Amino acid sequence: MRVFVTGATGFVGSAVVRELIDAGHRVLGFARSDAGAKSVCAAGAEVHRGSLEDFASLRTGAAMSDGVIHTAFIHDFSNYGPAAEADRRAIETLGDVLAGSDRPLIVTSGTLVVAPGRVATEDDAARPQLPRNSEAALAAASGARHMVLENRDIRAMVESLGRAAVRG
Ligand SMILES: NC(=O)c1ccc[n+]([C@@H]2O[C@H](COP(=O)([O-])OP(=O)(O)OC[C@H]3O[C@@H](n4cnc5c(N)ncnc54)[C@H](OP(=O)(O)O)[C@@H]3O)[C@@H](O)[C@H]2O)c1
Repeated sequence: MRVFVTGATGFVGSAVVRELIDAGHRVLGFARSDAGAKSVCAAGAEVHRGSLEDFASLRTGAAMSDGVIHTAFIHDFSNYGPAAEADRRAIETLGDVLAGSDRPLIVTSGTLVVAPGRVATEDDAARPQLPRNSEAALAAASGARHMVLENRDIRAMVESLGRAAVRG
């Protein structure tokens, strides 16, 4: 399977690339700079140049793949609203390409978006005061509310990562 991985140079994405290649898959790794392209290439993946702001590059990456794992995110916490909006638009763009294909779309999010102080489940909505809304964007892109989504024949899933769980 050939998988398009956005954020292929990042902490999570680079581990995803490694796992996929070790499991025998081909990876198309998204890179927005020469340094990024070099590290994607060194990891054994094919390079797909582009950025979250360049929707055509997201579209062609998704079109060339059997599935997409979206881990890219602009971690600018001083300007979080636009970063969350770029994430939403990227998910929408990827979803548009995959619609009707039954190809999987996996997106990352964070546990900060769910309510603190109790056990969270996949049925929880994101806290409305936070601008990040990867879950809702994926649901909208695939035409259903929950994570296993059938209306547009996209197999969609959100991985909500806790910082303590994967970094530090
Ligand atoms: N790591 C954690 O502990 C943790 C916890 C909770 C949630 N998450 C979520 O998991 C996902 C991955 O996190 P991470 O820790 O791997 O993040 P990261 O190490 O900061 O990597 C971010 C990735 O996004 C890319 N990127 C940033 N801006 C971009 C743009 N404008 N266009 C294209 N690519 C762009 C970066 O490319 P460059 O290399 O070119 O900068 C990099 O590959 C994110 O959604 C994050 O919020 C992570």
